[in-house]
Amino acid sequence: MLNDLHSIKKSVREEAERAGSLQDIQNLKVKYLGKKGVLTNKLKFLGSIPKEQRPEYGSSLNEIKKYIEALLNKQEDIFKSSELNKSLQTQQIDITIPGYYIPLGHLHPITLVLNEIVSIFISLGFTVEEGPEVELDFYNFEALNFPKDHPARDMQDTFFISDNVVLRTHTSSVQVRTMEKNTPPLRVIAPGKVYRCDADVSHIPMFHQLEGFMVDKHIRMSDLKGVLELFIHRVFGRNTSVRFRPSFFPFTEPSAEIDISCVICKGSGCNVCKGTGWLEILGAGMINPRVYEKAGYDPDLYTGFAFGMGIERVAMLKFSIDDIRLFPENDKRFLEQF
Ligand code: PHE
Repeated sequence: MLNDLHSIKKSVREEAERAGSLQDIQNLKVKYLGKKGVLTNKLKFLGSIPKEQRPEYGSSLNEIKKYIEALLNKQEDIFKSSELNKSLQTQQIDITIPGYYIPLGHLHPITLVLNEIVSIFISLGFTVEEGPEVELDFYNFEALNFPKDHPARDMQDTFFISDNVVLRTHTSSVQVRTMEKNTPPLRVIAPGKVYRCDADVSHIPMFHQLEGFMVDKHIRMSDLKGVLELFIHRVFGRNTSVRFRPSFFPFTEPSAEIDISCVICKGSGCNVCKGTGWLEILGAGMINPRVYEKAGYDPDLYTGFAFGMGIERVAMLKFSIDDIRLFPENDKRFLEQF
């Protein structure tokens, strides 16, 4: 019986010598050591051997098993490293070939401009507030001193959800909401989406605005001028001229529209500025005392300014874009330019 084991050992050695590939060695492993392999079978029959021979036979069997395992593992390693060497010699990897191009998206031009504007005001100590886009008539109109028959309240301009609820037509709706929750001093900007029933080359029904306001004791129109000039110079460059033109908004008194010197002709007159040399960019003014009354502030104690701008408008002037509809269209040929 022990002879049997020795002849197994011998034939494994011979077969391993004859093996010509990794696969041959792996086949030998299955043949001798596998689940139905020669040695495994021998182990299974250990029980049928006379008791007194069992220990000797058993330990020889184990010894041979270890021997075969070591032998085949060694052979396997030899084949593995020679196959690796072969493939290293025959296959060449050109590490200078550029990798695959993975297309990456980037921020929308409106987001880029909005982020730039927000960061300018944050650097001046303003904090960011947000309000709802579906807004009560009270915050959008009533608290801002819009009389009941004001044309802005007309169905032509405003999307009504119900008699009392509108899609906000401007971010000025955030003014009284913020005042109700806080006491001055306030330095706030409120960016967001606004809605007006209007559509042509310079109007789309949903667009973005940024509101800004500052309320404290002794805030003056010169503070408004200083803040807006600084802002305009940062966005459009130091050489941009700024002018305040008298205007009207129910919630500011006095009110102004702010123009900048034309970004195209620098003020000499062209078809973008319709020959005037100026482009309108913002609405602003000193907050009307009636707004403070609605917010529960003492109008004799506090003064402040407010301004509002269209983000699409700023982006159009900054990048010389002549059609506002390009922004929501999502044409990659347009978006890829930013
Ligand atoms: N809300 C005004 C608009 O949408 C802009 C504005 C804001 C004007 C704040 C004055 C003060 O046209």
